[in-house]
Amino acid sequence: MVVSNNEDLEGLREIGGICARAIKLMSEAMTPGMTTGELDEIGRKYLTENGAQSAPEVCYEFPGATCISVNEEVAHGIPGDRVIAEGDLVNIDVSAIKNGFYGDTGASFAVGTVNTKTERLLRDGKRAMWLGIQQVKTGARLASIGEAIGKFAQKNRYTLIQNLASHGVGRSLHEEPREIATWPDKHEKRLMQEGQVFTIEPFLSLGALFAEDGENDNWTLFGEPPAPTVQFEHTVVVTRNGPVVLTLAD
Ligand code: CO
Ligand code: CO
Repeated sequence: MVVSNNEDLEGLREIGGICARAIKLMSEAMTPGMTTGELDEIGRKYLTENGAQSAPEVCYEFPGATCISVNEEVAHGIPGDRVIAEGDLVNIDVSAIKNGFYGDTGASFAVGTVNTKTERLLRDGKRAMWLGIQQVKTGARLASIGEAIGKFAQKNRYTLIQNLASHGVGRSLHEEPREIATWPDKHEKRLMQEGQVFTIEPFLSLGALFAEDGENDNWTLFGEPPAPTVQFEHTVVVTRNGPVVLTLAD
């Protein structure tokens, strides 16, 4: 959507904050031995208590309130019986709707201690997202997001998943501008418009280039070739003064 007044902005800020605090609460509650289903329930409860509904459930009949993807799973993991273990790499993605406004945010976390490479990947995944966010300004090229992230990834010898794009959001979960690459895309000619709302969600990896369907369900996506992968996502508004990040926890 394109924000046209203060009410729009306040509505987006409210749901953005709810999504961000749901992730924070879930990540703080995450302990080895609990199932992803139990973790999802914490998120669902928080959304419900705050008058919000899970967007993937409402929009796509996703079987869970939040997407929880563990280790080899890159995105859209279904919460369930899987037990979270020490050393796991867990991605939580929360998108939700309240009063007709949608927010979308995601983050990856280490459960307990992980190896140095994975620790670095987590730190740099967040950096990659912020590099993308820093490109946001009215009139700037949308392609500059993927260029900045791509340069960072290449310099630091990471790969980027190249078929999971960022997207417009606000009045629905996925809307215009569609398919915003977080990797270099020479065909991208669009410019950012004042008030435009979209996500920036690069998937930084130690080797994966694509996300592919698995065989167990119609949702979970796996890295190809398989490699540890992280995702960090914020929803932002484009302004003349730069990005306004809507999905902050406080
Ligand atoms: Co998301
Ligand atoms: Co998204």
